[in-house]
Amino acid sequence: MKRISLTQYLVEEQRLNNNIPAELRLLIEVVARACKTISHAVGKGALGEVLGSAETENIQGEVQKKLDILSNEILLEANEWGGHLAAMASEEMESIHLIPNRYPKGEYMLLFDPLDGSSNIDINVTIGTIFSVLKAPEGMGTPTEQDFLQPGSKQVAAGYAIYGPQTMLILTTGQGVNCFTLDREMGSWVLTQRHMQIPAETQEYAINASNARHWYPPVSRYINELLAGTEGPRGKNFNTRWIAAMVTDVHRILNRGGIFMYPADAREPDKAGKLRLMYEANPMAMLVEQAGGAATNGKQRILDIQPEKLHQRVAVFLGSKSEVERVTSYHESQ
Ligand code: AHG
Ligand code: MN
Ligand code: MN
Repeated sequence: MKRISLTQYLVEEQRLNNNIPAELRLLIEVVARACKTISHAVGKGALGEVLGSAETENIQGEVQKKLDILSNEILLEANEWGGHLAAMASEEMESIHLIPNRYPKGEYMLLFDPLDGSSNIDINVTIGTIFSVLKAPEGMGTPTEQDFLQPGSKQVAAGYAIYGPQTMLILTTGQGVNCFTLDREMGSWVLTQRHMQIPAETQEYAINASNARHWYPPVSRYINELLAGTEGPRGKNFNTRWIAAMVTDVHRILNRGGIFMYPADAREPDKAGKLRLMYEANPMAMLVEQAGGAATNGKQRILDIQPEKLHQRVAVFLGSKSEVERVTSYHESQ
């Protein structure tokens, strides 16, 4: 097999589609390098003293794990000096992070969930990093939170790294989705899957069913129909998978099809769900759409949502198109 590195892929993609200018290539390579460092820390576990709680809280009121903080620092440090960014934002930081004055500024803005699936860290189960890239608005001065509030359809790149039995980088720059596997001995990312496509037919779904009693009627209806199996309106049996790390559930769906749901529910009626729009739902929605799937909040396409706040939450239904369309239509007929 001829090995194509991430760098070669990015250079050739630029020649072909003219959509990865040098600064964006640098950005992607720097993010990939940071993910390599995170992957190394994840792999060390207790030996690297990276497990356990940091006993601090983030802006969402969630207790931070040591690895949440470490991953955030790794991404910030790696991306500060290259001159490709105007600013960064993260799940783990209340406000946006400006590029220090000693470094040149670029035209891109990077958002990330440095460590997704934090509850899996201490039990040695797959976790990941999610990232989203936006362009700074024309004529922007010192970046503000407002400059980040662009709909997901404006993302110029999005992706995630998954730290599992293998470490992989799944990337889109708007021309399909490609997968790179980290060659741990060589320290390089190698293209291993081109143009990932979500299978249209699926018998798998992902939802945290412990919240069933709080679900709204469209979600209950959809799930009850799946649960009814061959005797129900769907006429086939479905299977559940829930890994408690969106990265890992989405990765399965990209490869094997299925639907992932984190709906809003009646527990906290004012809360639009659990997941965050700008650095969880948007990048995943772009990847899923680029792989032929769909992503909605039950009512509208996630990528069309105009964000109002950096840490805004959103309901998420994503994966195989026909399933997402079905559950979305149940919301419309409400
Ligand atoms: P994070 O670790 O970045 O806070 O994200 C966890 C998210 C998501 O990845 C996962 O699908 C979901 O939370 C799991 O939620 P439950 O604990 O409610 O199952
Ligand atoms: Mn997350
Ligand atoms: Mn996180």
